[in-house]
Amino acid sequence: MRIDIVSIFPTIFDALEVSLLGKARQSGLLDVHVHDLREHTRDRHRTVDDTPYGGGAGMVMKPEPWGEALDGIVRDAPERPVIIFPSPAGERFTQATARELSTASHLVFGCGRYEGIDERVFDYAAELGDVRLISLGDYVLNGGEVAVMAMVEAIGRLIPGVVGNPESLVEESHEDGLLEYPSFTKPAVWREREVPPVLLSGNHGAVAAWRREQQLVRTRERRPDLLPD
Ligand code: ADE
Repeated sequence: MRIDIVSIFPTIFDALEVSLLGKARQSGLLDVHVHDLREHTRDRHRTVDDTPYGGGAGMVMKPEPWGEALDGIVRDAPERPVIIFPSPAGERFTQATARELSTASHLVFGCGRYEGIDERVFDYAAELGDVRLISLGDYVLNGGEVAVMAMVEAIGRLIPGVVGNPESLVEESHEDGLLEYPSFTKPAVWREREVPPVLLSGNHGAVAAWRREQQLVRTRERRPDLLPD
């Protein structure tokens, strides 16, 4: 999968060089390119924002640098990419979104800052690719960068070969609509706390039933919204 990221803080994405995603990049499973939006400005101050038409607080990102940055990325692309703008005003990002996007061959992420990006940029981007505005959750970040980091990690780890043991993807929270069951490792007693005896029983059926029950209990307690009425 090819991933292009446009941001005024490109060094934030240095973190994609480490851990599983870093390995996936080295092995060629992930081809990540980070672009500095300011490279597409023409003035001495490398200005990317301006005051909003109609007045109001804050600054809006100017369309011209975005147009150039997107043109440069799409010019060399073999097919129409999915172009994602993280935004608290977007559709909600879920495990299902991550699964869907993990099958794309080319994702472009545009990180907005300030009060947002001039709305015409989204309209123009729709000529170049399939545009999605996606929110991480119902809270506001200072910009899209941290949201893109989260999305790239959630999507990237679903690409076959990125996570060494694919079985570990199956029993995770949200894969079957429930929260994950609790996990324990050695020692069997730690600071007077015991591992649930069923896990030491060797009875695989009993272990599976206990884990399923724990998933239901946890989901009911912490995320009742995930359960059918
Ligand atoms: N940018 C600012 N807040 C955001 C959020 N909640 N999700 C995605 N992008 C954002």
